[in-house]
Amino acid sequence: MSSSKTVLITGASTGIGATYAARFAQRGHDLVLVARDKGRLDALAAKLREAHNVNVDVIQADLTQTSDLNRVETRLRDDAAIGILVNNAGAAQSGSFIEQSTDSVAQLVTLNTTALVRLASAIAPRLAQAGDGAIINIGSVVGLAPEFGMTVYGATKAFVLFLSQGMSLELTPKGVYVQAVLPAATRTEIWDRAGIDINTLSEIMEVGDLVDAALVGFDRREPVTIPPLQDAARWDDLQGARQGLLAQIKQSQVAERYTAKA
Ligand SMILES: NC(=O)c1ccc[n+]([C@@H]2O[C@H](COP(=O)([O-])OP(=O)(O)OC[C@H]3O[C@@H](n4cnc5c(N)ncnc54)[C@H](OP(=O)(O)O)[C@@H]3O)[C@@H](O)[C@H]2O)c1
Repeated sequence: MSSSKTVLITGASTGIGATYAARFAQRGHDLVLVARDKGRLDALAAKLREAHNVNVDVIQADLTQTSDLNRVETRLRDDAAIGILVNNAGAAQSGSFIEQSTDSVAQLVTLNTTALVRLASAIAPRLAQAGDGAIINIGSVVGLAPEFGMTVYGATKAFVLFLSQGMSLELTPKGVYVQAVLPAATRTEIWDRAGIDINTLSEIMEVGDLVDAALVGFDRREPVTIPPLQDAARWDDLQGARQGLLAQIKQSQVAERYTAKA
């Protein structure tokens, strides 16, 4: 029997997205699976229908293409059965900032940020109106760490975290749950696709472990879930330090160190 909410998952043909699909199907949710590779989506859909007796639709879409993206937005706006969006499709890129081409960084930004925020924007008003539903945005710990040397990728993931935190503040009072999930290196195809040898990484989480942990955070309605973070107090400290800044930065006076006499 189906759970009440249909879950639309982007980047569901493999990796973290395909694992979310399997887990939500196991929980009895109907699914809408989105990615470019229709063959893989169809195969996963057939497997999940068979194993879990749920309805699974497939939308073939390249989320960097406006017309494809618009089709998914329309589905999110119009299909009242969809109550959960998993904004997961994303890519990484190898090389330093000056080695990456202008077109390739723009492409990455389009997929990791523009598509993600457009899809969130398409569904959020309807969920807020219903007073129910959830949006899961997949960020990355790289978004916290310019030191990791993935500058543009990390910047897109910093966007995802900020967006999620802001959306959470706005939408929680309206009954809509927003979760940012920040994985660290996880064993998926993303590394190979980016031309990075996974064997050069010292710590790799298994994708099933990552998604299961993220779903523990989901069930607890955590706004930010960081499965690899061992000491949760570190995150609380960071947020506390950031909030400590707020009164300091909302000032009309220039700080003394920037005045001519300083
Ligand atoms: N794996 C990690 O170490 C890691 C760590 C932190 C965060 N993340 C984040 O987790 C998310 C999922 O990554 P993953 O590791 O599962 O990667 P993956 O195995 O490479 O899967 C990426 C998914 O996104 C889809 N996709 C890629 N480009 C697309 C496009 N233009 N339009 C539509 N779909 C597209 C791919 O399907 P098609 O090729 O069929 O389109 C695939 O289903 C990403 O946002 C990533 O940044 C991953």
